[in-house]
Amino acid sequence: METKIVRITDADDPAIIEMGEIIRSGGLVSFPTETVYGLGANALDSGAAAKIFAAKGRPADNPLIVHLCSISQLETVALDIPDKAYVLFESFAPGPLTVILKKRPELPDTVTAGLDTVAVRIPSHPVARSLINAAGVPIAAPSANLSGRPSPTRAEHVIRDMNGKIDAIIDGGACSVGVESTIVELTSGTVNILRPGGITKSDISNLFGSVSVDRHVYEMVADCEHPKSPGMKYKHYSPEADVVVVEGDTKSSADTIRWLLAKEKQKGVMCGVMAYDGCTFDSEAVLYVGENNKTYASRLFDSLLSFDKLGIKKVFAQFCRDDDYGLAVSNRLFKAAGGNIIHSDGGDIK
Ligand code: TXA
Ligand code: MG
Repeated sequence: METKIVRITDADDPAIIEMGEIIRSGGLVSFPTETVYGLGANALDSGAAAKIFAAKGRPADNPLIVHLCSISQLETVALDIPDKAYVLFESFAPGPLTVILKKRPELPDTVTAGLDTVAVRIPSHPVARSLINAAGVPIAAPSANLSGRPSPTRAEHVIRDMNGKIDAIIDGGACSVGVESTIVELTSGTVNILRPGGITKSDISNLFGSVSVDRHVYEMVADCEHPKSPGMKYKHYSPEADVVVVEGDTKSSADTIRWLLAKEKQKGVMCGVMAYDGCTFDSEAVLYVGENNKTYASRLFDSLLSFDKLGIKKVFAQFCRDDDYGLAVSNRLFKAAGGNIIHSDGGDIK
């Protein structure tokens, strides 16, 4: 299949009409959102949703997020919507938030992987919103990467994974948040974060007081377990390189990385929160991802994918848990590393 690649940065670009038509008629279009690029299909068309699973190599039991334009559309896909869901959407939508709701029976099981719930998100990216409007249907969209790979934050990442497999890719530039939406589950009565993202735990605590974070955000899922979000059990965010997370304060983690580079003569350092004088590494590939976890999040996947492009085989990713945004960064890094973490101030290396 030939994949049409179109540059659209303006929500009013007439080219969006054709992209919407492709979605409505059962095709696949990758599009930018404020978090990561999505791989969109008509959420009301079971056959179209099935094509997403095929293009990504995604296990059929991992459900998709349904994207809408406004709060008033929630009832087109969900039932018995709790007040707290409205409070969440009124506070953070449009934006990087996904809420798990009870699904309407009309929504195909392919989209929800047979669950009786549906994940719903109202993105803020103008091109994403314009595409949903042009399609005239809710858009089911996972991240537009091959299953298991880092999520794409630029069109070039999507092109690498999806060219020739889908109908079209909208190049709308780099995504600003850089990690996927915060997923919140309310179905058990409590407010529970299943995936941390751009809306932080304290953003949500400010609304409700008590908010829990699912333990699988921090822990790997054992083979016998059934996590609340099916995606949690699959390998995630993995670049070609082996990733080792080096956690600790700025200095001790940097010292540990330097020691590792010297000892193992391996290449690649991804540095976050590194802004202190004289911090240098003896490595051919060093990517500085910024001065706080928000900038780290926005460059994280792009940096991992850049190391792939450079042919780097091992990446030491520094991580400093300095703020509320750190949860989203550590969750992605720890999964990318498959749980391979060195606590630089905890004596893991001798
Ligand atoms: O920012 C985002 O959320 C991006 C953009 C494209 O919107 N989308 C995204 O989709 O990250 P995906 O498929 O890569 O991740 C969706 C996650 C998966 O882990 C899936 O298991 C979970 O959401 N999920 C979907 N429906 C669910 C449900 N009904 N209950 C629990 N988890 C669900
Ligand atoms: Mg994904």
